[in-house]
Parts: sequence; structure tokens; C-alpha cells
Amino acid sequence: KKKVIIDCDPGIDDCLALLLALKSPELDILGITIVCGNVPTELGAKNALKVLKRENRLDIPVYLGASKPLKRTYISAQDTHGQDGLGESFLPDVQDIAPQTTSAVDFLNETFSNQKHVSIIALGPLTNIAQALQENPNAWNNIEDFVSMGGTFKSHGNCSPVAEYNYWCDPDAACYVFEHLAVPVKMVGLDVTRKIVLTPNILEYMQQLDPETGGFIAKITRFYFDFHWTHEQVIGCVINDPLAVAYFLCPDLSSGFPAYTTVATNGVAIGQTIVDEKNIWNKKTNSLILTKVDSFLFMEMFLNRVMNAQTQ
Ligand code: BDR
Ligand code: CA
Repeated sequence: KKKVIIDCDPGIDDCLALLLALKSPELDILGITIVCGNVPTELGAKNALKVLKRENRLDIPVYLGASKPLKRTYISAQDTHGQDGLGESFLPDVQDIAPQTTSAVDFLNETFSNQKHVSIIALGPLTNIAQALQENPNAWNNIEDFVSMGGTFKSHGNCSPVAEYNYWCDPDAACYVFEHLAVPVKMVGLDVTRKIVLTPNILEYMQQLDPETGGFIAKITRFYFDFHWTHEQVIGCVINDPLAVAYFLCPDLSSGFPAYTTVATNGVAIGQTIVDEKNIWNKKTNSLILTKVDSFLFMEMFLNRVMNAQTQ
């Protein structure tokens, strides 16, 4: 099994990503660390627990991480994900269990100090990762693989003309991680995630296949559908985060090119990923920038795993 920690800010699409991960027997999920992003950390943890409870996996520990970005003022994405972070579905909180008392940073550093072959799938701003890395850089020499949903190469931004939310929310953390991680950041950015659209037809199909899970997904994505129509003229919604999980499970789904990448930490381009595609700076490669994705294959995998029914 692949040992993995999922760092996230649940979030509608984070919850879909968690569902996919929980339905993937190849993964040994050591823990879920929560960062402030789409919603404040405590709320994100509550949403993660709701998904774990649904899947009967409350044995997976949830750790609270940073409650604000490294330097910038925290700005949530509750306009996109709803006040509750789950599309204003206002599903009841899980009462039986609370997040761990160990912090996300301590959990990350303890895990990397004591274990080898552990990977991270990061689905939110990179604050927890940067803080842990700053605190104990040596522990991180052991990391196996790092996949991050964030940034954008040629596609436009979603927080500014050039910046994607996760890296825009904490550009200093994103920049630090790109510059200091021992392995390349596999960047699942908007170039590829914009091709993953949950359409009304697919959603309808999901509800037919599995009314329970399909109904849950319909409930949490309705708000997201409205947002996408207003802001992106997309019918349906782009589901960014599950692609990062799917790519970790199956690298054949997506491809790109290696490059040196950094993140703008101030000025009008704050949060922008600057990808040295032509190696003009002659710097060491620190990223893999994904540009192509087989969205059909992704959707097939998502439906096969998340719905409790087999697609044809
Ligand atoms: C990213 O930002 C959040 O709104 C989503 O959960 C995703 O991780 C997309 O820009
Ligand atoms: Ca996210």
C-alpha cells in the first residue's frame, strides 16, 4: 500500500477527493491534516469528519493545522464553497469524535522523522507543509512523493488574472515549498483541473447509480454549480482536488513537463506560479507541471470507485 497524508481545506471538492481516496484500497491514509483555506481550520476538520463518518473510517486521525497563512491576512473561499464549506448543505456535525490534540505540524514532522516512503497529497494552501518543513527540514528528506493541487501555467487564475486560490491564499508557503522540498512538486494546476467538469448529466447518472452517495454529492455541489455558472460560464462545476488524488493513484492519467517553478509573493501577480518552461534561469528543476489530462479516464475511475455500483 502507498502510505499517504492528505493535507486539505474541506471544501466541496476536497470532500470529493477524500471520498475518492477512502475508496482506493491502494492507499494507507496515515492521517488527514487540515489547513485554513476554503474555510477556517476547525470548520474544515468538521467537514473532513463528516466524510470519514459517511465512509465508516473515523479510525483515520484528523489533525488541526495553521489557522492563518504564513504572512498574509487569511481570506477564505466561503463565497465559492458556502458558509459551511459544503455548499450550505448544513449536514449535522459528527459528535462521536474530535480532531487529535497533536497539531498537524507535529504529526507531519513525527511521521517523516519515523517513517520512510510516505507521500503527501496537498489539496489546499501549503501553510502546514511550509511550517513543518521550516521547523524540521531534515525530517523531510525522507518524503516519497508530493502532489499539490494549485497554481496555473497557461490557464487563467481564479483569484486574480494569474493566480489560483491555494497559492494565492498563502503565496509565501507555496514559494517556500517549491524552493525547499527534497522532491519535485507535482503541480496539478488549473490547466488540468479545469478539464474535470462534473456536469448535470454526470451528476444525474451518479444519482441513478447510487442514490445515497449521488444524493450526497448533489447536495454539496448545488451551490458550486451556481457559482461556476456566474463566474466561469461553466454548466456544472470544476472539481479540482479529486484529480490530485487520482493522479497520485494513476500517473498515466495526466502528463506534463519538468521545470523550475517559483511563486510570486508580492505585487500585482501575487500567488502566480512562474514556470521557467524554457529553462531561461538555468535553475535546478523543482516541479512537474501537468498540462494534459485524460478527463474521460478520470471520470470513469471516479465513478467506479466512489459510486457503490460498477459502471459499464
Ligand atoms: C482550489 O481552491 C479551492 O477552492 C479548491 O478546493 C481547490 O483546492 C482550486 O483553486
Ligand atoms: Ca482544496
